[in-house]
Amino acid sequence: MIEAARGSLLGIEHLGREEILRILKLARRMNPRTARPLLRGKRVLLLFYEPSTRTRSSFEMAAKSMGAITTLVLSSGSSIEKGESLVDTGYTLRAVGADVIVVRHPNAGAPALMARNLDIPVINAGDGMHEHPTQALLDAYTILRHRKDLKGLHVAIIGDIFHSRVARSAIHLLSQFGAQLTLCGPPEFLPEVAGTLAPGLHITRTLEDAVRGADVIMLLRVQKERLGGTKISLQDYIARYQMTLGRLKLAKKDAIVMHPGPIIRGLELTWEVADCPQSVIVEEVRNGVPVRMAILARALGKAR
Ligand code: CP
Repeated sequence: MIEAARGSLLGIEHLGREEILRILKLARRMNPRTARPLLRGKRVLLLFYEPSTRTRSSFEMAAKSMGAITTLVLSSGSSIEKGESLVDTGYTLRAVGADVIVVRHPNAGAPALMARNLDIPVINAGDGMHEHPTQALLDAYTILRHRKDLKGLHVAIIGDIFHSRVARSAIHLLSQFGAQLTLCGPPEFLPEVAGTLAPGLHITRTLEDAVRGADVIMLLRVQKERLGGTKISLQDYIARYQMTLGRLKLAKKDAIVMHPGPIIRGLELTWEVADCPQSVIVEEVRNGVPVRMAILARALGKAR
């Protein structure tokens, strides 16, 4: 077993401010339409054990715009279906020539396990309920296109926080930079918090309290089947936690509305909110490409 190869990105929790800033700075210099072929001859392996539209396509766009070759391996239709282990799949993909593996997996810690067994960088594209570091980086990048600084920013995070790797990575990142975070959702969707909360972290049960005065409203995906495990019905969720234009008015006038996607119109937010001028949901997707270009360049030693 070896340490994760240099350039791996397994989570935000242990990344550190300097490294986060370095990636964001590099991303600002990346343009997929005019990119230099920094990764010519490099092979980027996209290994997805779970469905994905945004993460998968933006990693592929990012890699190809810098001249890399990409190969997509999905769990269905591959030898994973025959019972091949994660580590053996990693050895196989390394043997066919992968220079970096981008992996999405339903189990927390799967990218770290792969990274500890391979001598090439591994990038976490979302692992179970653990982290989604590239989403947090593109979210920070998006916020910083609308605000000068993350410090002191009021961010309301609404929805199924407990099960969300997006929320976990966002909280690690934004709290490191001094943002004030308010978490809001049904009790079953909130993290269990023993004792006092970390500085800058607040919990509220009413959406109105969370949103009042907010600079950023970060909505999370709510899976209908998970609502089934709570005391709250779909109709109650919509009545109490759906983002509407009326509720958005409680936030700062220039507040932005974010959502990692996929969005469910009529559940987490109304159609009007999804398409309103304050919604940056499509911009987040677009920003995923330069941010993932920076992450791939860093992974392959081209982050200069
Ligand atoms: N935000 C996100 O991870 O979307 P996908 O599941 O479509 O990649």
